[in-house]
Amino acid sequence: MRKLGGLALVASCATACADNGKSADAGTGTPSEVTYWQDMVPLFEKHCLQCHQEGGIGHGRFDVYAEAKEHAALIRHYTTAREMPPWDATSDGSCGDFRGSLALDDAQLALIDAWVEGGAKEGTPGRVNLPAPDRLQNASDYALPSYAPVEQGGVLAEHDDYHCFLLDANVDAERFITGYDIVPGEPEIVHHVLVMVVDPDAPADLDEASEDLMLPAGATNAEVMAALDAESPDEPGWPCWGQAGEGVFVRSTPAVWAPGQGVVHFPGDSGASLRPTDKLVVQVHYNLHDPELHGKTDETHVLLDIADHVPNLALFAVPDALLESLFDDEPDTLEPGKESVLYSFKRTVKELDLEDSTGNALAASRLAELKLWGVMPHMHERGRKFQMRVQSDAASDPACAVDVQSWDFHWQRMYFYEKPWELNADSQFEITCDYDTSSEQAPVTPGWGTNNEMCLATMFFTVPER
Ligand code: HEC
Repeated sequence: MRKLGGLALVASCATACADNGKSADAGTGTPSEVTYWQDMVPLFEKHCLQCHQEGGIGHGRFDVYAEAKEHAALIRHYTTAREMPPWDATSDGSCGDFRGSLALDDAQLALIDAWVEGGAKEGTPGRVNLPAPDRLQNASDYALPSYAPVEQGGVLAEHDDYHCFLLDANVDAERFITGYDIVPGEPEIVHHVLVMVVDPDAPADLDEASEDLMLPAGATNAEVMAALDAESPDEPGWPCWGQAGEGVFVRSTPAVWAPGQGVVHFPGDSGASLRPTDKLVVQVHYNLHDPELHGKTDETHVLLDIADHVPNLALFAVPDALLESLFDDEPDTLEPGKESVLYSFKRTVKELDLEDSTGNALAASRLAELKLWGVMPHMHERGRKFQMRVQSDAASDPACAVDVQSWDFHWQRMYFYEKPWELNADSQFEITCDYDTSSEQAPVTPGWGTNNEMCLATMFFTVPER
């Protein structure tokens, strides 16, 4: 359990649940009629059981009456606090219309409340339709080598290890990634996973010669990755910040994953290009804050759905002005000692520098067919709120595209839209992050470590494939 006082809740459950409905009839009479089988099971099937079943990632099985009853007060507490189900984007229609929203509406919260008030009654037993386990079937399995993470230390990753692993694309012609799933080897330490496509023959992102890597300007990605890998010859891969490591030019980031994301099927009949010569660089962020979790060996699997052809190309952007300012002479910082510090920036589509699968900038004619299908907000532990607004064209007003009112670092996901936003080169995004820095004495600096902050909106776009 994360934030709530476990013992207090168990005690309150003992009162509410042992009561078994005796106190429920006093009021309207409704509570006593709400039962597990008739009311809770249909709700759990849609919103909870993919995780709260045998072998699921949630604590407690709610497909078994006795266990659901035992958890009744906790269920009410977590759902009322909107900590469960893990879905942080406002989903009441006021900001974005999301595909597969897990969020509960007020009527559903009232139903849970009535069930618990009524003593968590069983009702007439029926059948539970268990949702299929949330795992990609028949996908290509890219296994990461086994690796024992260690704290990298320093201000940027005191208790973290950001490690990059290099894998072959393993396709015999240009193919398209249309979905993914991540199976963490050690779920308690795997905090996030990024899967990036890198063209090894393309020029690396070195504006000038790198003394660290002993490479001249104009070196290729392959040369940079070999130099990074050579720094730690005894272990697979290399430590990497932000993306694939200093100097590596990333063509696209088709998979971003954090616990609770579940399986992702790309929307809009789209896929991300993967060519036989490409490499996959998989970045795993290991969170090692808990000393008891040190010394574990991880073997994470990346599962990819791969199609021969797709009508639309999936493209990704990762704008974060706060983080990008790290490379300025004077990076932006967040003022310490405040309950709310806002950081806001704007980006046009043009400024995102979107490229096609061969690394060419997308022409304005193709940008005119650009659609935004999804967004994944990202901040670290000081995050409070996150909002993105989209101005589709100069004539329209900015509209709310995603709104997180109570940020939870532990539950992050890509939110996909039912209907995409239609954009062009001049469409503009406005991203606002809100942080609580009240426990800080010094300005908070941007960075990838959990102790630094980010203000990132990973965006999922499509354009017709031509
Ligand atoms: C995407 C997976 C997922 C979904 C969907 C989900 N949960 Fe959870 N739930 C978890 C995980 C993981 C935990 C344990 C970790 C934690 O407490 O953060 C948890 C913990 C809980 C707990 C605390 C249990 C304990 O003993 O500590 C309750 C209660 C709960 N969930 C209720 C619900 C309810 C009710 C729903 C549906 C309305 C739901 N959850 C949907 C993943 C999920």
